[in-house]
Amino acid sequence: MENCLVRAIDKRLALIKIPDDSPKTICTVTSSTQTFDVLLQTDFPDLQLYASGKVRDLYKIGNDRLLFVATDRISAFDYVLATGIPQKGRVLTQLSLFWFDFLKGIAPNHLATADVRKYPAELQKYAAPLRGRSMLVVKADMIAIECVVRGYLSGSGWKEYKTSGEVCGIKLPSGLKESDKLPQPIFTPATKAASGHDENISFDQMVKLAGRDLSEQLRDLSVKIYQTAADYAETRGIIIADTKFEFGRTAGGLVLADEVLTPDSSRFWPKDRYKPGGPQDSFDKQYVRDYLEAIKWNKQPPAPGLPPEVAARTSEKYIEAYTQLTGHPLPA
Ligand SMILES: Nc1ncnc2c1ncn2[C@@H]1O[C@H](COP(=O)(O)OP(=O)(O)O)[C@@H](O)[C@H]1O
Ligand SMILES: [Mg+2]
Repeated sequence: MENCLVRAIDKRLALIKIPDDSPKTICTVTSSTQTFDVLLQTDFPDLQLYASGKVRDLYKIGNDRLLFVATDRISAFDYVLATGIPQKGRVLTQLSLFWFDFLKGIAPNHLATADVRKYPAELQKYAAPLRGRSMLVVKADMIAIECVVRGYLSGSGWKEYKTSGEVCGIKLPSGLKESDKLPQPIFTPATKAASGHDENISFDQMVKLAGRDLSEQLRDLSVKIYQTAADYAETRGIIIADTKFEFGRTAGGLVLADEVLTPDSSRFWPKDRYKPGGPQDSFDKQYVRDYLEAIKWNKQPPAPGLPPEVAARTSEKYIEAYTQLTGHPLPA
């Protein structure tokens, strides 16, 4: 690939060599068994960049489509870390594809195709970096509310419950412990605040922002999707403690957009280690969290990088989440 930095990863030595002097962000990673790319930022100069999020770069394709590219960036505490996670973008993309297919009877989605050979001609020269980590999606008018569903009491839900006995205005039974399973999944919407931190809102506040009909529709659909997916995941040994959906309006109607039920948009817990009464180990980000705690990062920019072994082990966990949930190896 042109314009690439070569970073060599030698698994035996657990070493990733990263030349310090270059700002370039597409890198080739080789291990003793395979070579793959760690993509921190896309660089398609002749395409029109539409938006760039913490993890994804989006390009405008014609009037009504987007090229949706998952990089290998990883964020923690709302900041993108300086190190990428090998294969992460591919895992996020492939897992979303798995769930889009699994859920297609319940929720129409924004996917047009993830088959690079069917992408428009102007994208064919980028086929190699796009394969496996990208999708062509229908551009949607996004509804600016994060549709969060919680089946377990954790994170900001636990914090709210401890002080008020409620989460997003929903009264819960007393005496619940951290990470307890809730009597039934609850819909706890949030707004995407400009600061980057999401803000929990009540259902009534959502109604004021989005209207009653749409809010009820999104609530019922979100809970149904969560329940269907969580029931399945449990049979595969993964608890989906909570998750976040984003919906958008298209010419064809309301669609499930963004990524779906990935480790980045959800809390995945290994079922065999589930022990309510405290925080649970994260299936995928535990090594990252432990490391950031250990170095006592003040959670202010600049975000630190990760040691190679933390990046490598995190990569393995992302891949494991995919294989465990789908029953298939990550497609080559
Ligand atoms: N079909 C779509 N049309 C337009 N925007 C979309 C669509 N699907 C997802 N998005 C937006 O694309 C962005 C995805 O990039 P990401 O890196 O995940 O962003 P974030 O940092 O907000 O999580 C999000 O802002 C999301 O709202
Ligand atoms: Mg996102």
